[in-house]
Amino acid sequence: MRAETVVCGTLVDYRGVHGEGCVVVEDGVIAGITSRPPSAVNLLDHRGRGAYVAPGFIDLHVHLRGLRLSYKEDEYSGTAAAAASGIAMVVDMPNTVPRLATVEALSEKLQALERYSLVDYSVYAGIPGDIEEASRLASMPIAGFKVYPGDLLDRFSVVRGILGSSDTLVVVHPELPEAEKPLVESNSSRTLHRGCHWEIAAVELIASLQPRARVHITHVSCPSTLERARSAGFTVDVTPHHLLLQEWSEDCLFRVNPPLRSPHYSMLLLEKLLGGTVDAFASDHAPHAVWEKSEPLTCRPGIPWLEAWPQMLYCLVVAKALRLDEYLWLVSRGPARILGLSGYGVLEPGARANITVFKPGPDRVLAPGLSKARYIPYFMERSCMEVLATIVGGAVVYREGVLTGETGAVNPLSWPGGAHWRPYHEKDSP
Ligand code: DOR
Ligand code: ZN
Repeated sequence: MRAETVVCGTLVDYRGVHGEGCVVVEDGVIAGITSRPPSAVNLLDHRGRGAYVAPGFIDLHVHLRGLRLSYKEDEYSGTAAAAASGIAMVVDMPNTVPRLATVEALSEKLQALERYSLVDYSVYAGIPGDIEEASRLASMPIAGFKVYPGDLLDRFSVVRGILGSSDTLVVVHPELPEAEKPLVESNSSRTLHRGCHWEIAAVELIASLQPRARVHITHVSCPSTLERARSAGFTVDVTPHHLLLQEWSEDCLFRVNPPLRSPHYSMLLLEKLLGGTVDAFASDHAPHAVWEKSEPLTCRPGIPWLEAWPQMLYCLVVAKALRLDEYLWLVSRGPARILGLSGYGVLEPGARANITVFKPGPDRVLAPGLSKARYIPYFMERSCMEVLATIVGGAVVYREGVLTGETGAVNPLSWPGGAHWRPYHEKDSP
């Protein structure tokens, strides 16, 4: 029998380097691991070329926009950018137009993702106006709910109701509504007004509600927030910009929520990351049109990362700050664990056949061109590895700089049987 797809090279996942071998794919799933390639319809043989064959990367916080915001980004352009950087799954945010807080809007979004996404996907629902609509949304194939600062003001009782449900993931933007100020502030005054105290206060508020849901705090920008979130039993992610971007100016390119902090804080955040207290990297890919990023008075917050962040953060491995297995935990198994996807982020028989093939070096400048947001500030340009192929459910979506036109994308939360939606056990931790 000929295998559907076989991918050979140095096999590696969050458990470490397994040596040279091949991943054999059948029906979108890893059917086996072999030392030599069996006969295959589609053979990608990277043995002897210094390439790693790793589980597909996952970005659990992206804004693909679409719907009425397609001029900024859409489900196709955003996931094409993701595929080019080795990301085989994304989870989309609900602050679209319309907001994904009704069954109707969410259905429209899920249809667009099903039709256009090149990589596996899911979506978080926004907080609706009443708890009945929340139950309807929860029965749809979503990854969880997203809480924004405004929800704590306008829909607090619904937030509390959702947090009381034990089988839900609730992803929280950790700022209180009081932190949200007019857009015309400068970046440095925002850093003061939207200080770390608002982040910690938001985490305190959520913890005081004694949630039964799994709570994930996304884009922690302050070391103290991280400490507080972990002591409450919440998982946390960090963005590349809060971690590494130490030189920034008043330019709109650097406007982001939560704001960029001082170099001292990002160093402390990096120290926490290296100490193993972060569960995942997430990009918060937040694309806007060029004109929205050029005008200081109407400057929109957000940094578009999807085509660059795994390559840039690999520089931490090259610098020997992170080990390769730790990096793969943060870009793949860690996010899978937060999402509750047991069949993701690992190379073993029965897992979803999402695979990223990459090669370290050369240290070079990236020139992304698939995302609609092509304003690339200098700090996003650095790349320390090259993505050779991105494979989604066994389909080679991206190979050596080219989108192949193939896709095997699914929403794992609507997969028949839900085989990839099982809770994790402690032994999954590194
Ligand atoms: O900078 C940001 N941009 N932070 C957010 O929380 C939202 C995002 C966006 O949607 O543009
Ligand atoms: Zn976001």
